Amino acid sequence: MKYFIGNWKMFGVPKSVNILNKINYFYTKDKNGKKYKVIITPPYTLIENFSKIFKNKKILIGAQNCFQKDRYSSDTGAVSSYMIKNVGAKYTLIGHSDNRAEGDNDKILKEKVKSALKNNLKIVFCIGENKLEKKKKKTLIILKKQISKVLDKKLDKNNIIIAYEPIWSIGTGEIPNPRELQRTIGYIKKLLKTIFGKKAPPVLYGGSVDANNVYIFKQNKEIDGFLIGGASKSSKKFIDIIKNYYR
Ligand code: PGA
Repeated sequence: MKYFIGNWKMFGVPKSVNILNKINYFYTKDKNGKKYKVIITPPYTLIENFSKIFKNKKILIGAQNCFQKDRYSSDTGAVSSYMIKNVGAKYTLIGHSDNRAEGDNDKILKEKVKSALKNNLKIVFCIGENKLEKKKKKTLIILKKQISKVLDKKLDKNNIIIAYEPIWSIGTGEIPNPRELQRTIGYIKKLLKTIFGKKAPPVLYGGSVDANNVYIFKQNKEIDGFLIGGASKSSKKFIDIIKNYYR
């Protein structure tokens, strides 16, 4: 099973549902539609509405983040996984580099992961090195730390997806060279196997994925799908990624 996950970030109002309608229309008719899942993570404000609209449709709705405390707390502006689950989300991203930059450390992320899984959300756990770490050849060390400090074998591996997103690639148009990416994804998969055993969680790639470069990623069969930011805000761009992947 492959995954095409659209991360809308701070984008969208109720009428943006048109974008999802078009994607869902394509997805439902696509002869390859059984080979992949489409998940869209709109902002919190749209989760309930979109979850209702697509309740019995193929597209799945997720959140972009969740707060680390369970259920309710006195943290102004915070939204818990319990609240997200209750408005219909099936997934949540955790550990996106935007949120790490705002203070999400390994301890907080571990709490988020636990809380989300406890509330029956599937998680997409994001990891990735920054430009300096890459330059200093620290990528694998960083990824190992990001994974081993947060994930452990007691967690339900069936509800975990990993998204490798090099920070220097997010929104920049720069993508990793294929050999390096193959090595990195291979390393992540090996590491996940040591934690979770044989059937380890899938590993997605994210960072400037678009319809033009997806054929490069397609060569690497180890990549289980994509976390797509910018290009997921246009139905055409998002659909073209899927089309070109299966071309
Ligand atoms: P991008 O974003 O596709 O715009 O690079 C990816 C992400 O932040 O998940």
